[in-house]
Amino acid sequence: MVDYCQCVFFTQFMKQELYKKAITVLDANFQEGGFTIPSAGLYPFQWKWDSGFIALGFAHYDVEKAKTEMRTLLDAQWGNGFIPHIVFHTDNDSYFPGADFHQSELHPLSSKKYRSTGMTQPPVSGFVLQEMYRIAADKEDMLKYIKEHIDKVFYNHVYFYENRDPQDEGLVYIYHNWESGTDNSPVWDDIWKTMNPPEYTFVRKDTTHVDASQRPTKREYDHYLYIIDIAKQHNYDDVKIAELSPFLVQDPLFNAMLIKSNQALIELYELIGGNEDKIKTLLQWQSKSIASFNEKLFDAELGAYVHYDLRNEKAIRHITSSSFSPLFANIPSPERAKVLVKTMMDKFGGADKYLCASFDPTSDRFNPKKYWRGPVWINMNWMLFLGLKNYGFADVAARMKHDSIELIEKYGFYEYFDCRKDTGEENTPGYGGNNFSWSAALFIDLVNTD
Ligand code: GLC
Repeated sequence: MVDYCQCVFFTQFMKQELYKKAITVLDANFQEGGFTIPSAGLYPFQWKWDSGFIALGFAHYDVEKAKTEMRTLLDAQWGNGFIPHIVFHTDNDSYFPGADFHQSELHPLSSKKYRSTGMTQPPVSGFVLQEMYRIAADKEDMLKYIKEHIDKVFYNHVYFYENRDPQDEGLVYIYHNWESGTDNSPVWDDIWKTMNPPEYTFVRKDTTHVDASQRPTKREYDHYLYIIDIAKQHNYDDVKIAELSPFLVQDPLFNAMLIKSNQALIELYELIGGNEDKIKTLLQWQSKSIASFNEKLFDAELGAYVHYDLRNEKAIRHITSSSFSPLFANIPSPERAKVLVKTMMDKFGGADKYLCASFDPTSDRFNPKKYWRGPVWINMNWMLFLGLKNYGFADVAARMKHDSIELIEKYGFYEYFDCRKDTGEENTPGYGGNNFSWSAALFIDLVNTD
């Protein structure tokens, strides 16, 4: 008979083994060029928001790698403050669309050192620097590092507020679904209906690595490529993009991360000392952004924040895991936070499910296997865990953490996971890429955070 002590030891042993495995995944994905690929084969370059989450994982056990990761990302910044979504460090041709399709060199201020895409991803760098400071054992050394890099992040935010907010609302737009990080969310379906892109001829590479049923369709890709073509025709000029892109969205996740990073920059500049002008600017952005966010993006009837389609001037009324991300950035009032958590638990939180599906499981657009149309993503869970904890929802926060760890224990370090505890299939796998860097990195951070 196995006694209680043996079981506890076994569980602890398994956790330690998984922790070691997480480190192995991250170290194996770290490249000579000083950056980490999200997943071998499927994603062979450096992705912006992945890099931020990855740096957090490294910060717990190899601080030099964490610093290198962020330094390399910030090194790819353009002359106008923009930081691209993919930095193509190598000529690897296992990914489409690659550097030759994107042609970032069309923009006069693009990096002369690195080829990249001409679009961005959620602004994680500010809060990542702050988290690196929190984790660092040698605070003095980390503050010195932050001092050397923080202005790049500040100028990235200047870029956003000066170029991505045409109506001066304190809310910035994204011009491509890939900028959101939530690539094929059902939220974009209504926008695709307003477009009729040409049928492109190209060879998909993603579906050679991952089952096509877990990836976007060919027709969706036509839309993705067409938006890039329009931007390219205008050399990625922001004014022209704001005028002409069929996709122009104020995304709650993207704006919540910008607000979270603004706050981090304020606190880091205060720690560094001086920099009064920058702090003043950041505070002005904060009050305007938070007020507009609450006024424009909250849907009282749905009890959640939603996306706003700036091109077609209408709210996109669907609930996604991004709808709850404002908790991470301290945006809702405590009363509104309660409403949000109730919506989350009513629709996403049944006992038969893992938290937190990426799309409303009660909607007919929900698909538990397809990328951002339903599966659970660890980076979203990590943000929601911290947000819930911050607002005092200790039980829901504990469940968010527990479910994230259980999914990884059960399936491995996959890119995304089925939210159904019982899928009706005998051997449900994890979905998307395996040995996925941010799942490993944030697992490390989660187990180190109470
Ligand atoms: C997928 C995800 C995106 C991520 C990228 C690299 O495209 O949708 O959020 O950054 O993979 O991991």
